[in-house]
Amino acid sequence: MNITIKQCTLDDLKELQALSIETFDETFKDQNSPEVMKDYLDKAFSAEKLEQELTRPGSEFFFAMVNGEPAGYLKLNIDEAQSEAMGADTLEIERIYISSRYHGMGLGKNMIIHAHNNAGKYNKTRIWLGVWEKNGPAIGFYQKMGFVQTGTHIFQMGDEAQTDFIMEKAL
Ligand SMILES: CC(C)(COP(=O)(O)OP(=O)(O)OC[C@H]1O[C@@H](n2cnc3c(N)ncnc32)[C@H](O)[C@@H]1OP(=O)(O)O)[C@@H](O)C(=O)NCCC(=O)NCCS
Repeated sequence: MNITIKQCTLDDLKELQALSIETFDETFKDQNSPEVMKDYLDKAFSAEKLEQELTRPGSEFFFAMVNGEPAGYLKLNIDEAQSEAMGADTLEIERIYISSRYHGMGLGKNMIIHAHNNAGKYNKTRIWLGVWEKNGPAIGFYQKMGFVQTGTHIFQMGDEAQTDFIMEKAL
């Protein structure tokens, strides 16, 4: 299997939108109502919203490409683009999603290595992320990758305030 990582540009918006919706839906649809999911997907992954995110200074998106097709994506933030003020020395993994048919093949690990490389490039010494407390598989994956829980924050999903664990890794 040939895995490569490609930085996304505005030209990738449609593919990024389709992959964002597909992977968020398959990850969370069993634990949220269809109405809440539809509302969230429409808002969070609209073309306008993704265009803003793709062009925001400090934010970068990457595809994990398998045999030339996007099989997953990563969103990294630094500085003011981070979703919480964690400091000047931190890089945030805001999203890491691999399409379910490619789980367990090393793509997630490749993305984490890519996040490490970017942290080094920007002189950041810690990587952090938020993960829903009920997303056991992702928590297990992050622990395997060397992240530890350091706190919590609230993620608004429809009317429900969901608790996210904050996990960090010192480099
Ligand atoms: C979580 C996710 C990114 C992991 O990516 P992946 O490509 O399936 O994981 P990899 O194949 O790269 O696994 C890397 C290592 O983590 C381990 N691992 C993977 N899932 C694990 C789990 N649930 N528990 C413990 N270890 C796990 C693998 O065994 C592998 O170990 P190794 O390096 O010793 O071989 C992916 O499954 C995914 O996209 N899930 C759905 C979306 C999601 O929940 N994203 C996170 C939102 S916060």
